Amino acid sequence: MRVAVCYFTGTGNTATAAREIADRFGPDNPTDLYNIELLPATVDPDFLARYDLVGLGSPVYAYNEPPAFTRFLRELPPGNGKPSFLFMTAGQDPEACLAQPVRTLRRKGYDLRATVCLFMPGNVGCYWFEGDEMVFRFLSPTRRFSTRDMERERRERIDRLVRSLLDGRTEYESVTPWQRFVSWSLRGAFHHAAAPLMKLLPYTAGGCNLCGICVQTCPTQSISILNRRVRFSTSCTVCVRCLNVCPEHAIRVRWPLSVLNRPKQYLSPGWSPPKHD
Ligand SMILES: Cc1cc2nc3c(=O)[nH]c(=O)nc-3n(C[C@H](O)[C@H](O)[C@H](O)COP(=O)(O)O)c2cc1C
Ligand code: SF4
Ligand code: SF4
Repeated sequence: MRVAVCYFTGTGNTATAAREIADRFGPDNPTDLYNIELLPATVDPDFLARYDLVGLGSPVYAYNEPPAFTRFLRELPPGNGKPSFLFMTAGQDPEACLAQPVRTLRRKGYDLRATVCLFMPGNVGCYWFEGDEMVFRFLSPTRRFSTRDMERERRERIDRLVRSLLDGRTEYESVTPWQRFVSWSLRGAFHHAAAPLMKLLPYTAGGCNLCGICVQTCPTQSISILNRRVRFSTSCTVCVRCLNVCPEHAIRVRWPLSVLNRPKQYLSPGWSPPKHD
């Protein structure tokens, strides 16, 4: 079987998960990985026709998928029954955000065979070190995950996902009505308020040396430098990559999104963002 995996990633977690899924498919099922920020805005139907199975992956932002992934799904060509699967990465409650992407894919005629949610370090969560382990607690005072716990659980889930796809079985994560409600109620706030506000809320504090790294690595080309000032635009997808890659830690976000300010920089180990010209 030939597999394509198309994913959006802000800080590399979803790219890491995509690579782990490809490794699990193994050499008998060659898997090509595509970061959607490097694909054309509208995917050519001939591109998908080359594959027997299409995987789509996204992180969870505020119980939803980021606007960049929404746009990508909307622009996908009609599925015409193409076998597909969906995976989401999140720091705490990933099932919550499945409803909308599942609906979009089904509406477009994709034969969705599996959905899976994978725990990854929360890139806006609270984390600290216990010995050499990073420990996370995101939105919950009681649930604690170390990176090792996450890796173990992720391996099991990816293994189950790939086995079910290869055996021709379906495997879906369950989404409770409450999770659906939370996702639906935050969707408008995130897509229609938070993302556009990112034109106004970020600023560069002292220390910006105009190196342009944030401009080159923004996945949605939302940053520019004009008159020796870093400027942000409304196409931001709130991926927090710029806050993490700035070598001077100079990017800050004003209230009410000041929660995005970094206590510590985070990029998935071994991953670095692609550079745009
Ligand atoms: C703006 C924003 C909102 C987030 N909201 C959630 C959330 O609602 N639930 C959750 O579990 N994780 C949330 N996260 C954490 C990310 O989903 C998680 O770290 C993900 O694996 C990041 O993937 P990436 O590195 O591929 O971008 C959020 C991250 C960002 C940047
Ligand atoms: S990456 Fe940081 S230092 Fe470089 S231009 Fe952007 S804000 Fe300034
Ligand atoms: S401006 Fe920053 S947060 Fe917004 S899309 Fe670009 S890198 Fe991501």
